[in-house]
Amino acid sequence: MPLDPALRRAITDRVRYYNDLGIYDFYRRPVTPGISDVAQKSVARAPSPALLVAEPAFAVQEESLPQSKSLSQPADHATALRLIREDLGDCTRCRLHSQGRKQIVFGVGDPNAQLMFIGEAPGADEDEQGEPFVGRSGQLLTNMIKAMGLRREDVYIANIIKCRPPANRTPERDECDTCSPFLMRQIEAIRPKALVALGAVAAKSLLAINAPMSELRGRWYDFRGTKLAVTYHPAFLLRDPRQKKETWKDLQMVMKEMGLPLPEKTLE
Ligand code: URA
Repeated sequence: MPLDPALRRAITDRVRYYNDLGIYDFYRRPVTPGISDVAQKSVARAPSPALLVAEPAFAVQEESLPQSKSLSQPADHATALRLIREDLGDCTRCRLHSQGRKQIVFGVGDPNAQLMFIGEAPGADEDEQGEPFVGRSGQLLTNMIKAMGLRREDVYIANIIKCRPPANRTPERDECDTCSPFLMRQIEAIRPKALVALGAVAAKSLLAINAPMSELRGRWYDFRGTKLAVTYHPAFLLRDPRQKKETWKDLQMVMKEMGLPLPEKTLE
């Protein structure tokens, strides 16, 4: 029997949400008295006796579900990104919306970019302008991109979280967990050839590895089928310019993978 379109949409949205959280295994179970709260909540939202129910590894905040209005990902990357932005709306899913952020900083760049940089969180300048990496560390990132023989407009730039934390504090785990499904969808929409995580917060959040930067950088990771490299955050390089040499090695590794010509110059 064909599925009711509304139910199909609800299931698609739910499965995508769990995929975004890294949950891929689902099983079907009949709805019987005594089923778990999670299953009961799912059944309450959809009129079906049997549902695909994820076995969540941790509690899921119902209010924070990033509902997609689209059934499947549009082939056009720009349209896909626009839909994700629409789904995000004027987000109030975590506490940051009420802690002084001026606006959501979604991401910037070429929707068809081959290379995507992922930072930590917007700072004051980014919060003011609504664009990632536009302050001092943004200028350095732009120079890093130029040193690779690219323009800022050729790549896509986003952050783990989309709202500025008060006083630029490090994002809390639950803020990252709430926001990152949108980043996952952005990556899925852009489908870059490579990702570069800028700094420890981005790297640890994406890879779920707790290791020092010296161990994280200098190698490739598989991130859901996309190559991911880790390098120092530009803000760290502003504090310790000696690490630019190591950063340049990381960027050259990325350039090699992307088939970009390796120039003589180093990072200034
Ligand atoms: N630092 C980040 O991690 N992201 C920005 O957008 C700006 C500074």
